Amino acid sequence: MADRGAERARSRTDDPVTAADAAREAFAEAFGGPPEGVWAAPGRVNVIGEHTDYNDGFVLPVALPHTTRAAVARRDDGLVALVSAQHPGERVEVSVVELAPGRPGGWAGYPAGVVHALRERVPGGVSVLVDGDVPAGMGLSSSAALSCSVALALRDLAAPDLAVADLVDVARRAENDFVGAPTGILDQSASLLCTPGHALFLDTRDRSTEQVPLDLRAAGLELLVVDTGTTHDHATGGYGDRRRECEQAAERLGVRALRDVPDVAALAPLDDGTPEGTVLLKRARHIVTENARVLEVVRILRETPDPAAIGPVLTAGHASLRDDFEISTVELDTAVATAREAGAAGARMVGGGFGGSAVVLVDAGRTDDVARAIDDRFAQQGFPPPRAFAVVPSTGARRLA
Ligand code: GLA
Repeated sequence: MADRGAERARSRTDDPVTAADAAREAFAEAFGGPPEGVWAAPGRVNVIGEHTDYNDGFVLPVALPHTTRAAVARRDDGLVALVSAQHPGERVEVSVVELAPGRPGGWAGYPAGVVHALRERVPGGVSVLVDGDVPAGMGLSSSAALSCSVALALRDLAAPDLAVADLVDVARRAENDFVGAPTGILDQSASLLCTPGHALFLDTRDRSTEQVPLDLRAAGLELLVVDTGTTHDHATGGYGDRRRECEQAAERLGVRALRDVPDVAALAPLDDGTPEGTVLLKRARHIVTENARVLEVVRILRETPDPAAIGPVLTAGHASLRDDFEISTVELDTAVATAREAGAAGARMVGGGFGGSAVVLVDAGRTDDVARAIDDRFAQQGFPPPRAFAVVPSTGARRLA
């Protein structure tokens, strides 16, 4: 029963009514009755501000049109029952009181982590069916879409006193403490707080936000996401290393966070002639210059009617992630360089790094040329074929039905 429902909801759709209907129907098949509602939360692409979030810095994401939908109903038997259209045949059931970090793991860890964070609000348990079309492992925050859709559902059903902004920490705790991925708050904030036609300018220290208009279509531009097909895994490896290096650099500089370093000159004390000092200098330099780039992009968007002017700043951001933060890959570098050669206004890798996607800002009339140039170059180099799609700044998390 559960599995057939999950299968059916797998049809991808951009239409919220169809998406909500599919999720309702799949929920009914899985659980034998209707959900109390259906919620959706998007993935994100970050315009600029990479790895700044856990350094108390600035970020500027937009929401993707791609979402995860969560159909949810409360239960009274103390169980959390989880079904995913993307994992047909799997049904995870665990009692609320037995939820613990890492149990359950895998995809179920994200919704379970959210239930765990709000467990006092749902002592009777919940049934959750999720279905989504945010590409996973591409640096586009499919995991935040998943946790935020469930967080908003539980808020509406059982915790109406919480503000949507409070859910950023609920979803972050699910990822950090339950799943064990040491992320900042970029992805969760983007998924919950973005509005259509805007980029979200967020100060991750004081959590203040500004919706910065970003009407790409009116300016004849397109934001092209290029999936390089190389994957990343945040829970292990490089992401945590970078986070630790940034903390060490801040400690050596005697500041609370790298956000507090005023300029590159103030990083000089890190350069102590040791290989370790050189690495910390480079990591910290990325954060300091990246924060400045976010402020620069916001300034440009506020002041000029032509968002193409942010292109060179995005490209400079890529160079910094490649050379100073050292989290790019040969595929990402190739996508960015080829896009630039083919006439894009700017391009850079996005997200945590070590694979995933690049984002390209390009004149709408040139999108096909740029995409073709990247395809050809990838073929020449023997890389797997990339996948490109244009995105518009879309709606943050909301109730669909
Ligand atoms: C991942 C993390 C975010 C952020 C980005 C890099 O997406 O989840 O918190 O650190 O990487 O900007």
